[in-house]
Amino acid sequence: MCGIVGYIGEKDCADVLISALTKLEYRGYDSAGIAVFENGKIKVEKSKGALSDLVNKMRDDESKPNGTCGIGHTRWATHGEPSDINSHPHGNKRITIVHNGIIENYKQIKEFLMSQGYAFESQTDTETVAKLLDYYYNGDPFETITKVIGEIQGSYALGILFRDFPDRIFAVRKDSPLIVGIGKGENFIASDVPAILKYTRDYYLLEHDEIAVLKKSGVKVYDIHHEEIKKELQRANWDVDAAEKGGYEHFMLKEINEQPGAVRTTISPRISDGLINFSECGLTNAMLNSFKQIHIVGCGTAMHAGIVGQYLIESLARVPVIVDIASEFRYRKPIVSENDLVIFISQSGETADTLAALRLAKKCGAKTLSIVNVKGSSIARESDMVIYTHAGPEISVASTKAYSVQLSVMYLLAFQLSLAKGKITEEGCRLLVAQLQQIPSYIEASIKLMEQCQFVSSKLVNADSLLYIGRGLDYALSMEGSLKLKELSYIHSEAYAAGELKHGTISLISDGMPVIAVATQSELFEKTISNVIEVKSRGAFVIAICKETDDIGPDVADHVIKLPELNDIFMPIVTAIPLQLIAYYTAVLKGCNVDKPRNLAKSVTVE
Ligand code: M6R
Repeated sequence: MCGIVGYIGEKDCADVLISALTKLEYRGYDSAGIAVFENGKIKVEKSKGALSDLVNKMRDDESKPNGTCGIGHTRWATHGEPSDINSHPHGNKRITIVHNGIIENYKQIKEFLMSQGYAFESQTDTETVAKLLDYYYNGDPFETITKVIGEIQGSYALGILFRDFPDRIFAVRKDSPLIVGIGKGENFIASDVPAILKYTRDYYLLEHDEIAVLKKSGVKVYDIHHEEIKKELQRANWDVDAAEKGGYEHFMLKEINEQPGAVRTTISPRISDGLINFSECGLTNAMLNSFKQIHIVGCGTAMHAGIVGQYLIESLARVPVIVDIASEFRYRKPIVSENDLVIFISQSGETADTLAALRLAKKCGAKTLSIVNVKGSSIARESDMVIYTHAGPEISVASTKAYSVQLSVMYLLAFQLSLAKGKITEEGCRLLVAQLQQIPSYIEASIKLMEQCQFVSSKLVNADSLLYIGRGLDYALSMEGSLKLKELSYIHSEAYAAGELKHGTISLISDGMPVIAVATQSELFEKTISNVIEVKSRGAFVIAICKETDDIGPDVADHVIKLPELNDIFMPIVTAIPLQLIAYYTAVLKGCNVDKPRNLAKSVTVE
């Protein structure tokens, strides 16, 4: 939530900040602002609304700051409504900051500062940090920052300008991500790599409470005792185009289309000689064999990938799996032992609840494995082992390609675990691996169903509410389909286990209510169809999704989408595509902001 950037160099700073913020708008779009040194003074421009509102405002008022050093912010509101006054940067003429995170003890600090004569303009927690910096400022930025981070509690990534030091930017972080981009004669701070890709691929990962001082000529990083730290330079392998729309109308559509490649790139480095090799992360077969129980933890789409993983692991490897929403896991006193493996799934690697759950699992002594897309993110760094998904940057708030690559790692894990537990032979494993390698071409075929999905969307666009139903893996997938539709189109929907309908939910069915029935599991097909008939006969408008060879007549469904014929276990990864496309086109038809749905942010770094 919230994205911060900073630039020092020779270019027009406001332009660089705006361009960098454009790449971080997925982190929040309630307001935007920049602060730039202009003739030795800090000039602030900020505005409620999207970044484009700020750009328009600066153009209309001819107020764009002119300088080469500054910081910027795009906000997802936590404390205080989205408004001009609550927009970042915050501070005064001598110290100005941008902040991503939450200051938990801001009320106490605010009360203290008010007792010292400070007046507050905004309702934000951030303003207390700006004022606390001002309170302690003694001409030495380093000492001041150290004092402040010793007092604030919570999470923060801060970019700080001191009027007395117009040739530098200060940055510090704890539990909110921050990288320091290293260019030639220019340097950057940013919440995420895509913000700096246009300018440089080289960056440092700032660790907790390390303080970075950026000048045009170079960057130094210190610990809180002012000892300089030698940082290892990281190189981003994402290309610049990866963070651009590349001719697509929306990032989401581009990312849906990128799925075949993303799955290929994620599975191929883990396959050698037709078998799976996890040596890169130190996950040996002996280790896999030793686990008595597995927990899978994540939020939203990532958690849904975990549910598919649960079905796969339990049915193939016969190891018990418990799936938890991270925000529940961390507070429900889960029973986790040293013999357990706890898997954390996260695209961003920064989700606050997932990170807290990871820390809890480590405390319980379990082995932790994360499946993460963003290299060097907090979850990746804090887990015992990490398997990176190679989806490239996912910009659209709604996860699509991240889900597919998470599923592909779930397949690899389930197969390897089955082999390690002696539930499948090496030959059997080879066969499954070979089938998995074919999946990208089936995803391509699935993407070609675009027009049919558009047609289905035209039937959903005026619905108030709809149901997704399925059994087994189809139910697991229905949850993801339903989430995608509601987050994008704001149409209420629920996913139900088809067999559960009769226990209450079927009373919701009324004339014309759309029901999306996912029926791709051969063993469960007949049973699911019986449930479909039950809703159809009560007036539902049924859209069925099944395999090519399945026969579903007009008496059962009003529209049928047929998918390529595959081994049942692989159906979720190809069925996800029409569900994503249906959600996408419905949102487009409704005129919703597809890449930035209301109230959401891509990276949820607060509880
Ligand atoms: O970065 P993460 O994978 O940890 O994010 C978890 C969820 O916030 C995320 O999957 C969210 O549900 C999706 N963006 C929804 O499409």
